[in-house]
Amino acid sequence: MSISVVILAAGQGTRMKSGTPKVLHKISGKPMLFHAIDAAKDVSDDITVVLYHQAERIQKEIEKVYKGIHFHMQDAEQFPGTGGAMKGIEAKHDKVLILNGDMPLVTKDSLHALIEGEADINMSVIHLDSPCGYGRVVILDGKVHEIVEEKDCIPAQKEIKTVNAGVYCVKKALLERYIPALSNDNAQAEYYLTDIIKMAVHENKTVHPVMVQEEEFKGVNSKLDLAHAEEIMQTRIRTEWMKAGVTMHLPQTIYIDCRAAFIGECILESGVSIQGESRIIASHIKTHSVIENSYIENSDVGPMGRVRPDSTLIDTHIGNFVEVKKSTLTGVKAGHLAYIGDASIDEGSNIGAGVITCNYDGKNKYKTRIGKNVFVGSDTQLVAPVTVEDDVIIAAGTTVNKNIARGELAISRVPMKIVKNFFYKFFRIESDEHKGVK
Ligand code: UD1
Ligand code: CA
Repeated sequence: MSISVVILAAGQGTRMKSGTPKVLHKISGKPMLFHAIDAAKDVSDDITVVLYHQAERIQKEIEKVYKGIHFHMQDAEQFPGTGGAMKGIEAKHDKVLILNGDMPLVTKDSLHALIEGEADINMSVIHLDSPCGYGRVVILDGKVHEIVEEKDCIPAQKEIKTVNAGVYCVKKALLERYIPALSNDNAQAEYYLTDIIKMAVHENKTVHPVMVQEEEFKGVNSKLDLAHAEEIMQTRIRTEWMKAGVTMHLPQTIYIDCRAAFIGECILESGVSIQGESRIIASHIKTHSVIENSYIENSDVGPMGRVRPDSTLIDTHIGNFVEVKKSTLTGVKAGHLAYIGDASIDEGSNIGAGVITCNYDGKNKYKTRIGKNVFVGSDTQLVAPVTVEDDVIIAAGTTVNKNIARGELAISRVPMKIVKNFFYKFFRIESDEHKGVK
């Protein structure tokens, strides 16, 4: 791979109206910038991210996930603008692909099209019916002549519908000469990267326009753009998984994180949300269930089940309104209304309705261990830390605060009292039938 990639991510992103830097807003579970980095990694081993606004925070987030990314701090006070962002960049390879950090939908296929060929500069262009906000590409005799930013356009240029999509592949030798020569003599008093096109044309260099997909290259600048980009990304993700054999009921109602994966025949009913790095293997996730960062194999969940992070369900049935967190269930049935947190439960065990693992004492979390073939009666509370061995019966309503050994029955009940005709006394009802009841 003889391409260097520079990702511009120093802009403030004011239109997002957010304290979070624009490029860290997530699309399908992953920051926008990471989508760009992933596409870049496919074509390059030399990636530089240009930062300025909230640089430290963004760099830290990147370093949590990626190794070997270079960072470049833009001197945005002295050299604002996309050209200023490129000042002082040192690229390893002879060609430099320049991407924007706010284009999460760009695919590697499109990047390949932009780095191909022998032109001195390949630049991405799109046709837009409403080109407002974009740099207009002036083409004379079929050749790119210059890019004029909207704020610098004369009225006739504003009519141009061929616009700069903002991604370029440029020979390093040209960048090294052109970037220091940029001026900020324009409407925004910024150093425009786009001015290198004019310089190249002036020197009779070849500037090749590459038509790209509007859908992929539209920048995300606002929360509205973010939502549109999310829809497009979700459609892509769902399409891929359906092609791979996942059945989806009303797919447009289903959310799937880009890091999730499915193996074997899986069914996702409507309204399901699969978040984080979940792995779903040959399982059925029923309507309106939420799965977060968990492993589910040969199991069924829901409707309206919730599986929170770090859970493992194997050969297990989770019914409606059951919440599982950080627990491992193998061969278990938990049909209704239960909270299973920080627990492990083994084969053949049945969890009744209303069972709760009391895993938190207000300060710390504790584990509940339930062995094989345990029948946990409805409305049982298991006060952790607690261990229930194999082959145990826990009667309905029991508060388990001691370990239970193999084969035992545990029952804790307040004796039930009966008060005859209390109802009639309480409501002061006197009917013929109950005359005389005082
Ligand atoms: C830029 C182009 C415009 C093109 C449009 C496509 C210029 C002068 N104009 O305009 O022709 O149609 O992209 O989307 O290049 N950035 C920095 N440092 C800065 C300013 C920006 O790193 O000082 C980064 C931003 O974080 C962003 C990218 O550069 O990722 C583009 O910046 P933006 O302000 O969105 O450019 P536009 O004005 O939209
Ligand atoms: Ca701008």
